[in-house]
Amino acid sequence: MTKAVSGFSKLSKEEKIQWIADHHFANPSQGVQIIKQYWNQDADLQKLHDEFIENTLTNFYLPLGVAPNFLINGKNYTIPMAIEESSVVAAAAKAAKFWSNRGGFKTTVLGTEKIGQVHFTFTGETAKLNRFVEQIQPKFYADTETITKNMQKRGGGISAIVLRDKTNELANYFQLHVTFETKDSMGANFINSCLEQLAKTLKEEASVWPDFSETEKDIQIVMSILSNYVPNCVVRAEVSCPVADLKEEKNISQEEFAEKFVRAVQIAEIEPYRAVTHNKGIMNGIDAVVIATGNDFRAIEAGAHAYASRNGRYASLSHAKIENGIFTFWMDIPLALGTVGGLTSLHPLVKISMEMLGKPSAIELMEIIAVAGLAQNFAALRSLTTTGIQQGHMKMHLMNILNQFQATEDEKKTVLAHFQQQTVSHSGVVDYLESIRKTN
Ligand code: MEV
Repeated sequence: MTKAVSGFSKLSKEEKIQWIADHHFANPSQGVQIIKQYWNQDADLQKLHDEFIENTLTNFYLPLGVAPNFLINGKNYTIPMAIEESSVVAAAAKAAKFWSNRGGFKTTVLGTEKIGQVHFTFTGETAKLNRFVEQIQPKFYADTETITKNMQKRGGGISAIVLRDKTNELANYFQLHVTFETKDSMGANFINSCLEQLAKTLKEEASVWPDFSETEKDIQIVMSILSNYVPNCVVRAEVSCPVADLKEEKNISQEEFAEKFVRAVQIAEIEPYRAVTHNKGIMNGIDAVVIATGNDFRAIEAGAHAYASRNGRYASLSHAKIENGIFTFWMDIPLALGTVGGLTSLHPLVKISMEMLGKPSAIELMEIIAVAGLAQNFAALRSLTTTGIQQGHMKMHLMNILNQFQATEDEKKTVLAHFQQQTVSHSGVVDYLESIRKTN
């Protein structure tokens, strides 16, 4: 076990790497070499990345791929995806192509409301607190004016400040539940700055409020923070076509496929074990675009899974039905995204991704990202209910196995040709690679 280190953040980058290598690596010089191999040759670009976080040693690459042919509300998109899982981009591209011949994806933004809360304790008469919060509303807006005025020019700002009594669940616990419109920014910094000012106003005004007793005047602010649960910042993505237009799958008719597909979704609607994996497949598509566009995938993940549990049981985010011979597959998902501010204006690849998408507004990006999730879900369910997932997965994973065994370009060609007709398995690939190595 290594000893704790003090003043690590004050060391230079070279010194940090050396310390890590000396204390953690069996072969320090090799470790240093690998770390430095990932530095960018362009010193300014490297510095930009170094300064995103504390204690940067190097860069951690994710492939940035694209899924073309996404027809969304009649407009064609090429969607950038940053992800390491081998089959995700291929699956998205396949689903995009499939639906582009069947009318494409339709989306509707159902709401764009963001939320933040000031959590505080108050000991006293709730009715008096209610009156107080009601009466200081103008002061709340006036005190946050310097923070909100630019956002207001863009059509956003604070939309409501509501007192919530949570004392049934926790003694003396109240909230200011604040709703915001943040237009094209994700709004985390804006919301948190507003909330901290609201907390200050709340405390100061309470301390001199004439109707309050000395105890009531002593409001304690616990914390002020945005919520990543945004059930009113939701987009719906949908595809539909006559069942007869669904492609015939191997050994299964369009009708059987549609019914099996709907049944698979129904299982995810009632069975949490399946719902988690089902939704994970959706997040494969969502996260990849969220990362490529410089948004916060942890926030999106947390919000999506909370939304999936909103009825008291974790359930599928997507739904499917067959009505009057029409197959419909849709999903509502909360997505708090930004297309200005944060990484979007800093990371060169994020800028490129945004350009690829035609510099979308936050609303348009919600639509694109929801579609990426629905497409991914469609592709996964289509494989699962027909051929099984492993056929496609293992085909895509084949290259990883070959790279793991340092196959040469010629070996790769031979193995890929062989497995065109064969089921791919890890041991099958290794055995075949060994057999061709023996004969050469
Ligand atoms: C794998 O990353 C995602 C799937 O498991 C999703 C699903 O089961 O629906 C294939």
